Amino acid sequence: MEKSWEQLEEACKGCRRCPLWQGRHHVVIDRGSRTSKIMLVGEGPGEQEDLQGKAFVGPAGQLLDKMLQAAGFSLEEVYIANIVKCRPPYNRDPQEEERQACLNYLRYQFALVRPKIVVCLGRIAALTLMDPNFRITRQHGQWMEKKGVLFVATYHPSALLRDESKKKEAWEDWKGIRDRYRAMEQEGKE
Ligand code: URA
Ligand code: SF4
Repeated sequence: MEKSWEQLEEACKGCRRCPLWQGRHHVVIDRGSRTSKIMLVGEGPGEQEDLQGKAFVGPAGQLLDKMLQAAGFSLEEVYIANIVKCRPPYNRDPQEEERQACLNYLRYQFALVRPKIVVCLGRIAALTLMDPNFRITRQHGQWMEKKGVLFVATYHPSALLRDESKKKEAWEDWKGIRDRYRAMEQEGKE
């Protein structure tokens, strides 16, 4: 069957594939442009996201928006999603089985958006999408290509809220991401 956003939304709303459905107020699918060439992937909804049904709308999201804008992105040109779509209790890390259970939906989103650049926000997204042994402190900012798509990870904005000393490195990552994205846009025009 043809893939569609309606189909994805319906499937997620009724989903009980992992125990996280039990605590949710809303499934959180995304935020931003569904035709973007750059996709950011976080971990899972927090309290505000669960209440509002949108990705990255709480304190971490506010910091993310500030960094995106400082790097010269408009918030309308990026696409933002998460590894799991229901809030883990007390914002704990989503477990391996929960991540695997939810991953098909993210693949579906990926197929609809077809981004050229994927930015993993934090360790959980990076180890799920890039490398099961990913070390964020060592490997953030390093690019990897998979099937014609560029992947990179940077610190999760919540980690930056907890530890301001990481902000400088994160900012370097974001400048690199912005440069690659702009270069890619330029190539697209030529
Ligand atoms: N943290 C995440 O990983 N995702 C959100 O949507 C909000 C906070
Ligand atoms: Fe389904 Fe994902 Fe929610 Fe688990 S987190 S219930 S797999 S939508």
